[in-house]
Amino acid sequence: MDDVCRRVRTFCDGFGVTVPVLQAPMAGACPPSLAAAVAGAGGMGACGAVLHGPEQIGEWMKAFRTGSPSGAVQLNVWVPDSPGSGSQERERLAADAAAFLGEFGTAGESGGWSGPPPYREQCEAMLTSQPTVVSSIMGLFEPEYVRRLHAAGIAWFACATTLEEALAAEEAGADAVVAQGMEAGGHRGSFDPEDAERTDIGLFALVPWFADHLRVPVVAAGGIGDGRGVAAALALGASAVQVGTALLRSPEAAIEAEWADALDGLGPEATLTTHAYTGRLSRAVTTPFLRAWQRPEAPRPAPFPDQAGLVGRWRAGGAPEVDPLNYFAGQSAALALPEPAGEIVTRMWQDASALLGRR
Ligand SMILES: Cc1cc2nc3c(=O)[nH]c(=O)nc-3n(C[C@H](O)[C@H](O)[C@H](O)COP(=O)(O)O)c2cc1C
Repeated sequence: MDDVCRRVRTFCDGFGVTVPVLQAPMAGACPPSLAAAVAGAGGMGACGAVLHGPEQIGEWMKAFRTGSPSGAVQLNVWVPDSPGSGSQERERLAADAAAFLGEFGTAGESGGWSGPPPYREQCEAMLTSQPTVVSSIMGLFEPEYVRRLHAAGIAWFACATTLEEALAAEEAGADAVVAQGMEAGGHRGSFDPEDAERTDIGLFALVPWFADHLRVPVVAAGGIGDGRGVAAALALGASAVQVGTALLRSPEAAIEAEWADALDGLGPEATLTTHAYTGRLSRAVTTPFLRAWQRPEAPRPAPFPDQAGLVGRWRAGGAPEVDPLNYFAGQSAALALPEPAGEIVTRMWQDASALLGRR
């Protein structure tokens, strides 16, 4: 276990944490209070900022610093897809998806969504917010931005779902690679959206594979819900873990009661991966709405962000069978408990330490 201890200590010393448990960036479910609670327990807080404009990123960081003046924190964005299908093809897919949604009710007048705020402005705002870490998912940062992050003393963590993506991240200067297993709740970080279903690698295979081939530390993410998962990930070669779903029922996460309740006792077989919420593959609680998109006659959902815009319009229309929100959840949702986030993190690390034979 000396190896594990050394690896964990090097990571903790390098990235300003005392506990190798990081909050996963979770767009739509990461208020500053959650991040401050995780940082307060010695871990690293996070903000999934894909939905935030530049001003909101600054405000989020200010609120985080009020709750945690010196805690470690990560800001995260989605790297935009390179232009995919032509506009005619996109229009056809959107029309088919809209026709299918029409079976659920009527679209509202408003509620559409045209996609995240401008990516470059988000990147600038993250840089000027001076977090411990800026992280990427679904692609890599450009070399000049990486250079500027490093010049500002900010580390870059890159999410990867295959070794090819992980090696590209290391080559591009990532300071750590987040190994995202297919158990993970929320969106899958595949660089090419077309790869997302084909490369559904579980964390037990992904972590040692990355650890054996990378020089930079590996952070394990996906299905880690308690100290057993933390100990397993570290024993497999990770230097730290990143947990999302396990924190969703904490009061600080403040998600809708309906979503939090859906996680209660939710078995691994009760989640599925779907394009139906946003057009990008994500793991969520199985609902009748998501099942409908799996019917043989259902069309392929429109690409991101068009599908999210359509679903938003039908939500605004109040169609009762359209899920009112995205019930994202990982396969270990049943391990998520309605307890303060700081206590969850502390217990995870205490239990993992006991399993690993650390004093
Ligand atoms: C509600 C929710 C939102 C998420 N949003 C993001 C995001 O914006 N950026 C990101 O890199 N990962 C996002 N993820 C994925 C997490 O970063 C992480 O990979 C995942 O939560 C780990 O699996 P777990 O949920 O089983 O712990 C999200 C996950 C959830 C559950």
